[in-house]
Amino acid sequence: MSQTKPVYASFRSIGAYVPEKILTNADLEKMVDTTDEWILKRTGIKERHIAAEDEYTSDMAAKACELAIERSGIAKDEIDLVICATVTPDYFNMPSTACIISDKIGIRDVQAFDISAACSGFVYLLSVAKAFIESGMKKNVLIVGAEKFSSIVDYTDRTTCILFGDGAGAAMISATSNKAEGIIDLHASADGSYADFLVTPAPGSVNPVSQKVLDEGLQYVQMKGNETFKLAVKTLTKDVKEILAKNEISADEIPHFIPHQANYRIIKAVGDALKMTEEQVVVTVGKYGNTSAASIPMALNDIWESGRLQEGELMLLDTFGGGLTWASALLPFAGKSK
Ligand code: UT7
Repeated sequence: MSQTKPVYASFRSIGAYVPEKILTNADLEKMVDTTDEWILKRTGIKERHIAAEDEYTSDMAAKACELAIERSGIAKDEIDLVICATVTPDYFNMPSTACIISDKIGIRDVQAFDISAACSGFVYLLSVAKAFIESGMKKNVLIVGAEKFSSIVDYTDRTTCILFGDGAGAAMISATSNKAEGIIDLHASADGSYADFLVTPAPGSVNPVSQKVLDEGLQYVQMKGNETFKLAVKTLTKDVKEILAKNEISADEIPHFIPHQANYRIIKAVGDALKMTEEQVVVTVGKYGNTSAASIPMALNDIWESGRLQEGELMLLDTFGGGLTWASALLPFAGKSK
């Protein structure tokens, strides 16, 4: 009787795209009642990138995908699933942004769909790719987190407009029979009772487009910042401690801790709770702001491009966002070093 060999999901490559235009704190000082000093002290953000008016989520995603594909060494016709995580899709209802991305990069007749998990999107994508691969249904899954957050930000609201930026990050997740290359563990969760902490009230079935929606600005993101902040620190720390303990790995064995880039104070609090050094904790929030589902892959791309992320090294991902959702993953980088 033949026995099927176990299959593991491996993280093969990373790519990202950052739009050209930069929005600095000095620019924001001219738009709302804020100061560079306040933004830096409370968030660690110096600047964020903003997509051009005619540059859409799928355009940024397609550029990140092309890089991830090229760096993976996998041919486009070997890709059998494309998934995009975004809360700023090209179209809110249909078609999915993943379908548009697939077309833009020349992948046709392949399953494609979007997922919505806000800032937790990229680790949620990893969980979906892992499940498809380990069940034997797919072999090469292209995942991409992409956001044009500037399309849902109210640039007269100082509590949100200082935080968010645009960008995209993609990765190739492939089947392997080598357990040492596979994702070690992943935990993803949600609690909808906090849904009102981070919400874009319209458009949707609750608030279809209407004059009232526009008059009240319901198309813009709303956030209970301070409450979200406190819960983020608590949840991120707990989640990452649990995944490390479960796998009997101590924090000092992790060369690359990549938390969601929402606020430097959150990142610092979680890093300190784990007693991690500055070298271990990846921080890109200062130059990109919060790019939601794109934040982790953009940070990963930065450390890969600078030669800091080497083949076989352990990565610990940790994220938290609207939903509320959260997720963490422990995995080796199974691609080539730069
Ligand atoms: O990615 C998903 C997860 N998202 C997050 O994790 C974001 C979490 N939240 C945060 O990053 C922080 O809560 C913020 C950066 C949004 C706000 O920082 P905070 O330390 O929590 O400030 P706060 O909301 O408690 O506001 C303190 C004061 C308020 O004034 P009063 O009431 O004390 O007079 C705000 O009105 O700061 C004021 N304020 C500002 N002042 C200058 C709020 N935004 C600004 C601003 N410039 N941009």
